[in-house]
Order: sequence, then C-alpha cells, then structure tokens
Amino acid sequence: MSAAALDIHLTDEDLTAALRSDVREGLTAEPKWLPPKWFYDARGSELFELITALPEYYPTRTERALLEQVVGEIAKLAQAEVLVELGAGSAAKTRLLLEALTAEGPLKTYVPQDVSVSALSAAADQVSAEFPGLSVHGVVSDFTATLDNLPRGGRRMIAFLGGTIGNLIPSERAAFLQGVHEVLEPGEQLLLGAGLVIDPAILVPAYDDAAGVTAEFNRNVLHVLNGRLHADFDPDHFAHVALWDADNEWIEMRLEATEAATVRIEDLDLTVEFAKGEQLRTEISAKFRREGLESELAAAGFATERIWTDADDRFALVLAERR
Ligand code: AVJ
Repeated sequence: MSAAALDIHLTDEDLTAALRSDVREGLTAEPKWLPPKWFYDARGSELFELITALPEYYPTRTERALLEQVVGEIAKLAQAEVLVELGAGSAAKTRLLLEALTAEGPLKTYVPQDVSVSALSAAADQVSAEFPGLSVHGVVSDFTATLDNLPRGGRRMIAFLGGTIGNLIPSERAAFLQGVHEVLEPGEQLLLGAGLVIDPAILVPAYDDAAGVTAEFNRNVLHVLNGRLHADFDPDHFAHVALWDADNEWIEMRLEATEAATVRIEDLDLTVEFAKGEQLRTEISAKFRREGLESELAAAGFATERIWTDADDRFALVLAERR
C-alpha cells in the first residue's frame, strides 16, 4: 500500500489542552455546555457511524444520494486541481468526489484534513492506493483553530460536508467562513453540505432514535471526560434530550441529570454540582434555509454559484466561489 504524506499540526498534548480549557469554561458556565467536538473518541466515532445507518437519521444518506446525483456537475464547474476535505475522517464520501474531479477536471492532489491521526493516516493511505495518479497529502489539525496549515498552490476546492457547519454556533460559523475566505485565493471554491430546515416531526427523531444510539453517542462525551480528565461522571444518571429550537432553527442535544450529582474533574481540580433536572448542552445542529446560506456566504466574501437540494428539500450542497 502506498503511504501518503502526513503533516501533523496537532499533537495529543494540544488536544488535551483544548479539552481542558473547553471543559473548564463550559462546566463553570450557566447554563452548562460542552462543545460537540469532544464526542469523537474511537467509541464516539463508532457510534456516529452507527447513527448514519439508523432509519431516522436521514442526513448522511440524503447527502450521499444528492452528491452521487450532482457530483459530475460539481466537478465540471469546479475544475479543481486540489481537493481539500475538512473533517475527512474515514473519507467515505471522498471517492465520489475524487472520481468525478479526475474524470471531469484536472485534479492532481487530495488533501484530507482531520483531528484524528489514526483515522486520517489510514484513509489517506487507502485513497492513495486506490488513486495511483493522485498525490495525497494529509493534514492533522483543528480547523476551528486555524486553516493556516493547509497547503497552497493549484486551483483548490475546500469541501466541508456532512452538515458539520451546523455544529458551530453562529459566531464560530462566521469566523470559520471568514477563515476559509482568508486561506483561499479569488476564484477558488468552497463546497458546503448543510442540513435544511424541515418538519420537526422528521428532524427531532433523527436526533432521538428509537434504538437509543444517539443517546449513547450523547453520553459518550461524559465517558471521554472520565477517561481523558479523570472525571467521575456516572453516565447512567444523565438522560438524552433532543429538542428543536424554532427561534434559532437548530436541534439542541442536552444531557439531563436524573438526580443531583457532585462531579469531580480530577485533572482540572474542579468540582461541579448538578441539580436534579439540570441540563448540560452538548451540541447544536443548525439547519439552514437557502437564503440564509447565501447571505452568510456573501457576508464572508463568497458568491454562491449553485445550490443543489434533494427532492424532499432536506439537505443542500452549495458551491461557492471566493471573491
Ligand atoms: C456531525 C453534523 C454530521 O449534527 O447531524 C448526529 C452529528 N449529532 N447525531 C449532526 C450528530 C447527533 C452530526 N454531524
């Protein structure tokens, strides 16, 4: 198997430092919150993979079917020489894009980015074996911290798929789009996958499945804190809550303490009290409208070239050009 180049801009120490500061900030805030990026240790990533196969969780399969349908058009419009994929993980949707961008355009280089060295190096090696003509250059980094370490040169398209943009709070989202604008040259492109505002009767079950996989995924963040920061959360005493916030147009996941608890986070020398019924916010997953996507992109200096949606208007793929 051909080995892909890998740049590591994020160490385990960096991750621990970020986790520590996020946990201290979020668990001493009122109301309490934690950023969703800490769901994804090995078990969390496995649980997310299971979520994507649940009957209620439509986003992944909807985006994939849409991408299959329009990837040729995307590739023709984009004419990318370099595909940068943010949060590439196992690079599951990547093959569709790589095939189309090579068939319909001048693709030469694939740059998968992720926080996880293990996920990334395996995926990068595999892609490089499958696409022998392609140069594969992985980047281990945290894109919410910086995009500065992405390679320059060649006509680039940055792909940010999966609807993960919705996990950023509005101020983080604006900063992220600004950051993408800063690293791109005029004429280069951003391909964004975003969930659309739909009937809450379909939306809520996608985040509160009958089998309870999302509940386990949600509680996994407590296991992560127990393991990485020597905390003593009892995950069984936290109930999964998923609700639709109609004003903000986002799904909010929370963990509700089913009884009063005193939690010790040893590595932070921090003790946190939970009242019975107190809720900890663990994720927002914002859903969008076309106009909102276009105006947020415009505000960050992007012109929307084209928006594709599935037949049920549940998910959008947006191709935007950096002005
Ligand atoms: C990471 C954006 C793909 O917000 O839908 C799935 C994560 N959270 N179920 C989403 C998630 C609960 C997911 N994405």
